[in-house]
Amino acid sequence: MAALASTPDLDVMKRVNRQFVTGVTVVTAMDGEIPRGLAVNAFSSISLDPPTVMVCVQHTSSTHDCLFRANHLAINILSTEQLDVVGTFAGKAADKFKDLDWQSGPFGSPLIARSSAQMEVEIRERLRASTHTVFICRVVHAAAAEHHPMVYSAGKFFDGGALASLG
Ligand SMILES: Cc1cc2nc3c(=O)[nH]c(=O)nc-3n(C[C@H](O)[C@H](O)[C@H](O)COP(=O)(O)O)c2cc1C
Repeated sequence: MAALASTPDLDVMKRVNRQFVTGVTVVTAMDGEIPRGLAVNAFSSISLDPPTVMVCVQHTSSTHDCLFRANHLAINILSTEQLDVVGTFAGKAADKFKDLDWQSGPFGSPLIARSSAQMEVEIRERLRASTHTVFICRVVHAAAAEHHPMVYSAGKFFDGGALASLG
């Protein structure tokens, strides 16, 4: 019988994914007394009312299990002033919060200073999606700042306040 499914070439998939422009977030949670987090661009709003969002985190991330155990997460939408922050949280440093300006949100999750926007969310579902966990979350606290958002495209970071309008 002929195979019904086929898998596109990995390089093609990389080029396809590079055509999708995103922002960048840092997803954080408390691991007991220790703040933890990682850079995530697999973030999306699912619904405005009720306010529901999702993030996808790879199982191999050292932060994954802490996020999986948490009841609440913070999602920090990065600004143009946080190139240093994305560098730290896309890396593997033991203490990513050393020398970082942050504070606990109303539900205890780490909110990072200079972010473009911040949310605290309550995890409602943890869906296994092959190599990743999809966290479906209800927003329980939200604040937007004036800082322009950081934009991520094809491996580079851009100023979200300097986009050319098509309209
Ligand atoms: C722009 C950008 C976006 C990323 N998006 C994701 C993502 O959506 N999900 C994910 O699991 N990792 C993502 N990563 C990779 C993690 O941030 C990276 O593997 C990090 O080192 C994980 O740290 P940890 O192992 O300490 O948790 C992204 C990295 C960058 C630079």
